[in-house]
Parts: sequence; structure tokens; C-alpha cells
Amino acid sequence: MTSDQDLHLQFPPAFEWGVATSAFQIEGASTEDGKGESIWDRFCRQPGVIADASNGDVACDHYHRLDSDLDLIQALGVDLYRFSVSWPRVQPLGSGAWNEVGLGFYERLVDGLLARGLRPHLTLNHWDLPQALQERGGWATREVVDRFTDYALGIQQRLGDRLAAITTHNEPWVVAMLGHEQGIFAPGLRDRKVALQVAHHLLVSHGMALKALRGAGASARLGIVLNLAPAYPATDSEADRARARLDDAKGRRWYTDPLFLGRYPQEAWNDFGGDVPQMREGDMDLIRQPLDYLGVNYYTRHMASAQGPWDTRRSGLPLTEMGWEIYARGLTDLLLTLHHDYTLPDVYITENGGAFPDALGPDGAIHDADRTDYLRTHIAAVADAMRAGVPMAGYMVWSLMDNFEWASGYAKRFGIVHVDYETQQRRLKDSARWYRSLLEQVRGRRARAVGER
Ligand code: FCB
Repeated sequence: MTSDQDLHLQFPPAFEWGVATSAFQIEGASTEDGKGESIWDRFCRQPGVIADASNGDVACDHYHRLDSDLDLIQALGVDLYRFSVSWPRVQPLGSGAWNEVGLGFYERLVDGLLARGLRPHLTLNHWDLPQALQERGGWATREVVDRFTDYALGIQQRLGDRLAAITTHNEPWVVAMLGHEQGIFAPGLRDRKVALQVAHHLLVSHGMALKALRGAGASARLGIVLNLAPAYPATDSEADRARARLDDAKGRRWYTDPLFLGRYPQEAWNDFGGDVPQMREGDMDLIRQPLDYLGVNYYTRHMASAQGPWDTRRSGLPLTEMGWEIYARGLTDLLLTLHHDYTLPDVYITENGGAFPDALGPDGAIHDADRTDYLRTHIAAVADAMRAGVPMAGYMVWSLMDNFEWASGYAKRFGIVHVDYETQQRRLKDSARWYRSLLEQVRGRRARAVGER
């Protein structure tokens, strides 16, 4: 096993390190300064959908604590910060008028990062679609493709010259399937045909926005972020192996094949039957725009069984508080599979981390050794993939701080910084101290590399 002493040595000095958040999960100020309603504001109001009956009204109050939060990010010693823009904060109805105060907030955020020597990685869609667009059918309608492209161009016009990276969508699979098939995320629909149409519109709008951004002379690097898990058969049986191939086609390749090959995987297309999306001529070419980077969010592996859903408690592996198996090797396997299947651009791990109990010690500190272990082993897994030739460019921890974990509410804590929701006090957990010291070693090595020149 890799010791801490060696871990940083496995990455080239140019490899980038960061922390990630998203607007709805941290900002709060859900009705302030002209912000419009989002589908998540609306969804949280439905009884029974959020585990602790909470919402994003206050969250981490980041909207009012921007400067001190930026200082916090800088103090960790990272190179970049991944955040998202709340579309209804900058364009309350998702079309037409822009909200100057909302745009001003993100301008202060971006300028504040640059002033602190941090690279801004902006995500356009981390799920909080303007409710006004949902009233017209949301992602299920073709209209949303044009609206999203206009929104992307508006952000480019205002902030584009100062951004290091623009991600179109965060995890289209989650928006489509958890939001429109399983109904456990906003907007809470349960219809697989709609869900697959949504996934198609997300992909088309990604391609359309990329094309438009390039046409507008964007200097930021452009990409998309996918949640991916390698699929393993639960047993060696032919039935389980076939299921693993099919699950992989429906969950991973349904997104990566269109992006890199310009087609949907045939076996998944057949399996979806009458639920496959309607397409227009030229859609697949639009989706397959050259990417400057692919963002990969990795949390756990996927176990495929012909018998039905896999109960993670059967695996014998340690689980996080989400009930997800801790399996770092899966990240290496996943990256190698992607490298095998496609010609990859730069790859960033745009999210990786875990929810753990985080007991406050009698000394007032949070000794989250389980999270530190998680991060250490997964970072080592990235190094393994890189050694095998995968073009890895950076790694980002999910998350900078504890925040609103969607349907789980505030009960699940993913931060390397602890948030006391009563006082909004931020406290570094041991994992944050560990990450900071890793990055100190990285910086020391960079300084030496420059000195040796
Ligand atoms: C991902 C989301 C992110 C966070 C983590 C735990 O699916 O992109 O916002 O909630 O899961």
C-alpha cells in the first residue's frame, strides 16, 4: 500500500487538485435578490421526499459568506474550485430577463477565486432548473435545448474570459433517471420514456452549448461531468455476466458512446424497447462535439445480478453512510475501461468522497479517519490508472464542506470541512488537514521543479 509520504510523488507537478460544491447544496438565499424558483426549491416542499424534511432555503448560507468561504478554500492549498451557477439566480424564469444581482454574485465568486490564485471550474447545470421551465415541460421538451444554450452564452458573455473550465451538465443520468424514472429527485416524475427523452435532451443541449460557446470564442476548457461506476457480475454465471454488460450499456455507455462515438449502444437501445427517445436528424453529430475534458464522478462500484438489485450488505466490503460499498479499485478499473473504449481527452475526477458519521471528539475535533482512508485509497487508484496510461489531469474532493445532500437532507455529511448548521461555523475535519498536507507536499515539489530548471 502507498504511504502518505509517497502519494504525491505519483502525480506530475502539473496535476491539478481541487474541492467541489454545487449551488443548491450550499448557497441558501433561495428567494433573495431576485432569484427565481428552481425545481429543487419546489420539490423540497412536497411532504415525504426529503429524509429530514429540510430544504435549501439556508443550506450553508454560502451566499452571505462568500468571502470567508473563499478564504477557507484558499487555506486548503488547492489549485481549483468546482462550483455551479444557479440558473434561476441569474435568469429567474430560464428565458428572457437576466438578474443583475445574481450575475454579480458569481462575478464576485470568480474574481475572488482569481484574486486568491484559484482556477474557477464552473458547472452550468447542477440540477436546479428554473421552475418556470418545468411548468412548460422542463428537460422533457425540445425547447429546453435552446434555453440552455442561451443560458450558456449569457454566462460566457459575463464571466467567460475569467473561467478555467465550463462544464455543461453534472451527471445527466441522475437528472434523467432519479428525477424522471424513479422520482426520488426533482422534478419527481416516474416515467421511463420521459426519462430517456430527458437524457437525450441533456446530451443534445450539451453539444449545442459547446458548439455555441466555441462559436463565441470561449477561452475556458469545455466538458461534461458523468457519474460512472464499473459494473461487475455478482457471480461468475453467464446470466450475471450478461446482466453486467447490459447494465454497463444502459448506465455508462448510454452517455459515453454518444459523446465519443456518436451513437447509442445497440444492446441498450433494444432493451429499452418502446421507451427509446425521439431524435432529430443531426442530433448524434451535435452530441459528439470534441471535449476538452471528461469529468468523472466516482463513489462506488455497481454489482450486477440477474436475480435483481444487489444488496450492498452482502458484499462484505465496508460501506459509507449512504450504504455505498467502498471499493477504490473500481475507480482504476473504470478509468481503464474508458481508456480502452474511447480516445479520451484530459480526465478529471470531478467528485469523489464519502459520507461518514463524523463524531465530534471531546477535543472539539472531527477525527474522520474513515474519510481520510477513503480519499487516500481513491487518490492512489487514480495514480494507478495514470501509470497505465489514462490521461488524468486532476482530482477534486466532494465536498469542500457538509451540505444539503439532496433527498438525504443534511443528515449525510460529505464535507472535509464540518458545518455546524446552528451557527454556520466551519471546522476543518482531520481529512481536510490531511488533504492540505498532501497539497503542501505537491507545492514543495513544484517549487523544487522550478528551482531545478
Ligand atoms: C453526486 C452529486 C453531488 C453530491 C454527491 C454525493 O451525485 O453530483 O451533488 O450530492 O453525489
